[in-house]
Amino acid sequence: MSAPRVVVVGSSNTDMVIKSKNLPRVGETVIGGEFFMAAGGKGANQAVAASRAGAHTTFVARLGDDMFGRKALENFQKEAINTDFLVIDREAPSGIALIFIDAQGENIISVAPGANARLSPEDVERAEEAISRADVTLMELEIALETVERAVEMASAAAGKVILNPAPGRKLPSSLLARIDFLTPNETEAALLTELTVDSNKAAERAGEKLRGLGVGAVIITRGRKGALIVADSVTHIPAKKVKAVDTVGAGDAFNGALAVAIAEGRELKEAVEFAAAAGALACTRYGAQPSMPSRKEIDEIMRT
Ligand code: RIB
Repeated sequence: MSAPRVVVVGSSNTDMVIKSKNLPRVGETVIGGEFFMAAGGKGANQAVAASRAGAHTTFVARLGDDMFGRKALENFQKEAINTDFLVIDREAPSGIALIFIDAQGENIISVAPGANARLSPEDVERAEEAISRADVTLMELEIALETVERAVEMASAAAGKVILNPAPGRKLPSSLLARIDFLTPNETEAALLTELTVDSNKAAERAGEKLRGLGVGAVIITRGRKGALIVADSVTHIPAKKVKAVDTVGAGDAFNGALAVAIAEGRELKEAVEFAAAAGALACTRYGAQPSMPSRKEIDEIMRT
């Protein structure tokens, strides 16, 4: 069987990370941290996750013409990702994320998007052939909304499925939501999209139903350690795998990349979300976003336990 085809349209960042006992509060200096740098960016993380989980993966993105962009490109090639539709931007720097992680693995992130903000609808149009042949096209919101809209429009006109991970959270037009087969907000993003409080499975169900009322095919609300809730024709709770989390950065991206692969393979939604949840849990057990994306072998193994 040939590998399923996934196209990811999105951002690429270099993550500058400091881990320390506590996260700094406004006006506070926290000393005693440890620094590391890792490849990141929601789109790039999802592309690496999809490739490691077994898909033929194409990544559509913009990188700066600098050492961070060059390193990222080299990385994607090592990960066997198709880089034919990556644009090198001569005017804007590569995206950078500053990240703080505490001893519980919780984080705060601030992103300077640089070239990511300049990924244009025309850049996406150049990847039309890949999108039209994709089993799944996956997007997030770390790029301009008009670019996401164009990618969704193209992907929904093709035969494949459309997954939108609405992160970072923002309000979205219903014309966009109506074209999405699978929407994957976390609790905060679901609350932002629906103006409802989302803090329990029941509340997540209400938010999911509201989004389905706007035309979304299925809503999968990720709830961290509390698992994920699928709101489709029926409602199903998928418990989270129990792991020792050291760093949750990129866990959502691992979930989405793996979900794209499982859907592209034609799995039932429940099984696809179980596969995605296993990938998300594994990503929490290691430091760094892209370095922590699990292999297919690891996901299959944890699925058996
Ligand atoms: O989802 C995690 C990612 O968000 C990090 O890698 C960081 O780059 C930010 O984009």
